[in-house]
Amino acid sequence: MSKLLITGCTGFLGGCVLSYALKKYNIKDILILSRTAGDYQALTRVQDNLARFGLSPEITGQLTDSNIIEGDLAQPELFLNNPCLNEVTHVINCAAVASFGKNPMIWKVNVEGTFAFAKRMSEVPSLQRFVHVGTAMSCLPEPGHNIKESLITTDDSEHIVDYTRAKAAIERKMHEELPGLPLVIARPSIIVGHSELGCKPSSSIFWVFKMALTLGKFMCNLQDKIDVVPVDFCAEALLTLTESENVKNGVYHVSAGPEYSVNFAEIDEAMAQAGGTKPVADSYSMVDMGYFMGIRKSFPTLFGECNERIILRAINLYGQFSRLNVTFDNTQLLHLGVSAPRKFTSYIDKCVDSTRGQSVTEMMACDFK
Ligand SMILES: NC(=O)c1ccc[n+]([C@@H]2O[C@H](COP(=O)([O-])OP(=O)(O)OC[C@H]3O[C@@H](n4cnc5c(N)ncnc54)[C@H](OP(=O)(O)O)[C@@H]3O)[C@@H](O)[C@H]2O)c1
Repeated sequence: MSKLLITGCTGFLGGCVLSYALKKYNIKDILILSRTAGDYQALTRVQDNLARFGLSPEITGQLTDSNIIEGDLAQPELFLNNPCLNEVTHVINCAAVASFGKNPMIWKVNVEGTFAFAKRMSEVPSLQRFVHVGTAMSCLPEPGHNIKESLITTDDSEHIVDYTRAKAAIERKMHEELPGLPLVIARPSIIVGHSELGCKPSSSIFWVFKMALTLGKFMCNLQDKIDVVPVDFCAEALLTLTESENVKNGVYHVSAGPEYSVNFAEIDEAMAQAGGTKPVADSYSMVDMGYFMGIRKSFPTLFGECNERIILRAINLYGQFSRLNVTFDNTQLLHLGVSAPRKFTSYIDKCVDSTRGQSVTEMMACDFK
């Protein structure tokens, strides 16, 4: 009998993973690490998030407090002696402070707390697999390449954001200091929307495309490719990486790869079609940060009531990522039998529909916690 522990189930990816796991697993075989937020109970938070993935109250109502391990990775000492952890056979660790902002909790949670949790799980005799969700960007990809999986060797000082620095550090630390942990590192590329539900579960990162097309200018070339995958593809991939006997300890990209990635011109075309507008391609130009500094006073008109500094920071960060023109090789994952991901442009209409009426500022809040 297997017992699956999933973390991060109130979030975008973890919520989708749990929604798929509920279809596959006996409810008694699922444990969820989650936090209570004030009066908002951990179980209710998880159930409410599952509703965003279209799960009915009949299904979400099957979850009870017996499925929940209440815990905060910022204070792991408060939950690590929970005896329920001793029954776990498989872990999917989606929890993290997934923010490009300057958040002091990034290191505390994504490195220190995550390491304490992984160390505790490495001491559980029944543990067969620990799937840790990393991020493909943490390897500091060389621009213009299709990146193959490898362990991270880069210098921490080279990272643009604390988030990727921390994600790189925890991968290295678990690999070097926990040789007994049956560790599989799954590195998603850029997760945008759900191939059926669009941005109903989360508008994370989708707003960047909206913002760039509203501006009609950005830092990338329209022919540059970007490796985007829908969250439901990632969820299925993570369950395969958890269950498949053919998985080897090591690193797997959960990505579109060169074949299923699209370029910005294709995204522009698909967004225009879905929104009933004209593509910006004919008037598009590549600009640098100086241009955006100059037009900062027009941001509220373009994006809704906003903090100009946060918008400038967002343009700067995502602009640097957009120029990379990289894809992440997914051959290993597809060889396990995972179906190929839908191209972003094939479900962009659902993302456009599900965010109609929302301003860029409203959409971006989930990425700047
Ligand atoms: N989204 C992407 O494009 C992308 C790409 C590559 C990799 N990833 C990785 O995928 C994973 C999930 O990302 P996501 O986009 O789903 O992020 P998300 O929506 O922000 O969800 C993060 C989850 O982590 C939990 N968490 C945060 N701090 C915690 C703490 N101190 N203790 C316990 N749980 C905590 C959150 O719980 P609360 O609700 O209690 O805060 C939430 O459930 C992350 O590891 C991220 O690095 C994401």
